[in-house]
Amino acid sequence: MKQSINRRDFVKTGATAAVAGFAGCMTATAGAGKLALLGGTPVVGKAEAPAYRSLFKWPIVNEAMRKANDRVLCSGNMSGTDIADEFEKKFAAWNGTKYASSAPNGTASLIAAFYAVGLGPGDELICPSITYWASCLGAIHLGASVVFADINPDTLTLDPASFEAHITPRTKAVVPVHVYGQPCDMDPIMAIAKKHGIKVVEDVSHAQGGLYKGRKLGTIGDCGAMSLMTGKSFAIGEGGMFVTNDRELYRRVVRWGQYERIKRNFSAEEIALTNNLPFGGVKNRLNQCSAAIGIEQLKKYDSECAEIEKAMLYYHKGIEDVKGIRMIYPKWDKSNKAGWYYSRSLYSPEAFGGVKVETFVTALNKEVGRGFDVGCNFPLHTSSIFDDADIFGNGKPPAKRNLPDGVSPKALTGRLPVAESILSRVIGDPSFKHFDAPKIDMFIEAVHKVAANVDALREWERKQKKA
Ligand SMILES: Cc1ncc(COP(=O)(O)O)c(C=O)c1O
Repeated sequence: MKQSINRRDFVKTGATAAVAGFAGCMTATAGAGKLALLGGTPVVGKAEAPAYRSLFKWPIVNEAMRKANDRVLCSGNMSGTDIADEFEKKFAAWNGTKYASSAPNGTASLIAAFYAVGLGPGDELICPSITYWASCLGAIHLGASVVFADINPDTLTLDPASFEAHITPRTKAVVPVHVYGQPCDMDPIMAIAKKHGIKVVEDVSHAQGGLYKGRKLGTIGDCGAMSLMTGKSFAIGEGGMFVTNDRELYRRVVRWGQYERIKRNFSAEEIALTNNLPFGGVKNRLNQCSAAIGIEQLKKYDSECAEIEKAMLYYHKGIEDVKGIRMIYPKWDKSNKAGWYYSRSLYSPEAFGGVKVETFVTALNKEVGRGFDVGCNFPLHTSSIFDDADIFGNGKPPAKRNLPDGVSPKALTGRLPVAESILSRVIGDPSFKHFDAPKIDMFIEAVHKVAANVDALREWERKQKKA
């Protein structure tokens, strides 16, 4: 079985020269038809591979970041709040929200956000099954439970219809996750939430700077919360941020874990009985080294994202003639925009004669050294921690505690067919952080080469099975 591939027929013919009309340089070592997986010449040779590492290096640390970090370190001001205050103000202005409140990490930000919208004992939080655990797991500390909903197979984000189907009288909040940078379809989500009186906490950890119909992600729901840890698009080390236009929600986040800011945001009467002790019993203060780095990151973030976007769109343009791999990207009319965190493509095994995504990705990485990945986060509803784990050792798993007798938490979530099958249909794209056309061309070439060798891949799979 062979894919019909126009621009890069050289892979099929074994030609080695550059392809006319295509930007970039193909080295003489590239292009041999036999897959590197089977002993052929890789597209990027071992000796060249180190030169490609800089494409992926993240975050991009400049002199201003280094100096900002040093200033905080040398002044011993790591534990203050003045630099964090400045960062919050600047972040809120950049994000287009009235308020921002930082935290030591995204997990802490999300828990504070859940508290802010009133999630508490007996309540349910609806969360898409495909996301990182921190999008929802903290809800169980508040005495709430998590009910999972399915995802849209084209975008990997929360399916609005599944969200609505999982609402019960106990549903207090929903957490749409802009997963792998893709904006959730917020209009229907907001309409359903409004109809049922449900609060919306956007998880923007993968998508800072992304747009949904012209609106910045994190500004559409009641509030947004996000991770700013090293691997994320907006990277400051460890850190989290809560954003909202609602003063009351902001005050509740402060009340939860920003004990030094309680006095500033609450009247003497309001704190008379409790002093300025945090209701969450937690200390959500951001390390000011991270805050100082964040202030510098803000200055260059938009231009970095623009370069990443240029690189990623170039890569996807280069492979758009390969049937069976499709970029996940919001409809491109400039009013929608991805945030750039480890973007994913859809892989169709049917288009490749049943070749597994793992095999395809293994072959790709053999061609280029590294850069491709398999699948996405595993479906969270398959983990027993949410429903059955006896976390406090008292025989009462938190989710069961909240339900009427005889109702199993598992029955509330039920089967989620898309989430359960999606892992075999997703490829992690190479995450280019720089636009370097000749180097990106090698990845494009690798995809064409592997796609043109489906029969050999199937044979390889057969042999693996036998062995
Ligand atoms: C979607 C999502 N939400 C929340 C978090 C939690 O953030 P943090 O690691 O900063 O606590 C992460 C990842 O780290 C994430 O990927």
